[in-house]
Amino acid sequence: MTTTAGQRYQLGNSTSQLHLMQDVLDPHTHRQLARIGVKPGQHALDLGAGAGSITRHLAGLVGPTGKVTAVDIDTRLLDPTAVIDVYQGDLRTTPAPGQPGGYDIITARCLLEHLPNRVNLLRQMTTLLQPGGWLVLGDIVYSRTVVYRAPTETDATLITRVVHGILDTLAARGVDLHWGDKAPGLLLDAGMNHVRSHSHTETWTGGGPGCHLYAQDAHHLGDALTDTGLTITDLHRFTELMADPYVVVSSYQFTATHAQKPEPRQPTNPPTAKTR
Ligand SMILES: C[S@@+](CC[C@H](N)C(=O)[O-])C[C@H]1O[C@@H](n2cnc3c(N)ncnc32)[C@H](O)[C@@H]1O
Repeated sequence: MTTTAGQRYQLGNSTSQLHLMQDVLDPHTHRQLARIGVKPGQHALDLGAGAGSITRHLAGLVGPTGKVTAVDIDTRLLDPTAVIDVYQGDLRTTPAPGQPGGYDIITARCLLEHLPNRVNLLRQMTTLLQPGGWLVLGDIVYSRTVVYRAPTETDATLITRVVHGILDTLAARGVDLHWGDKAPGLLLDAGMNHVRSHSHTETWTGGGPGCHLYAQDAHHLGDALTDTGLTITDLHRFTELMADPYVVVSSYQFTATHAQKPEPRQPTNPPTAKTR
């Protein structure tokens, strides 16, 4: 089922931003899902599904006998199918759909870091998982920007200032850019098994999807960036640099974590006395 598109995402997200994010992050999430082994017939929940690439990937893995439920505050880019159900809802105020133990896999990529109720939502997710089910998370984590190549030193300094400005602005707006480092400890404390975390940065080249994502994020946060002392001319130059194949810069750091819900303990038979 689907419902009408609702209130816009608090930080804003354009179609092109969501597609660029998918371009740079999907290979990592596909590998994560391959590691846990999604099976035909399973039920999955994708929270903050965005433009739906992971929802559709999961639908391919669970096949026609499985089910994928996609949830987002803005469902315009999510299409229901025979396998995919789409729910519009604000996960800050509405519980994630489903019954306790109703899902084999729950994914949330670049969502929890944005939500003030992230710890409560993580708890909901573990409740909604069935024993043996997997939680698959991924978030952007604060990291130092490295400029490997730029036309001039001034350009390199500008790139660093703008990318750090993007991260600082998101943090000032309540995005927890250290959440990806905290999630594994919380999952261990919650008794989850096989908690594994991987952090990834790579080089992004001007003109590629990652640098386009930087340019889009800077454009989206332009007003806040000019408040930090950057000028409109600086931001135009940054856009040019992000399109220049000479430029090579480090990516956002992406930290992915997966964890398995333990099976309930089997009651052990009381020891019986040996008889001769
Ligand atoms: C950064 S995007 C990530 C999209 C997708 N998970 C991906 O990685 O490609 C964050 C998504 O979370 C959704 N979102 C943000 N706040 C939300 C809320 N309060 N309730 C439900 N969805 C929300 C946004 O609409 C957006 O689609």
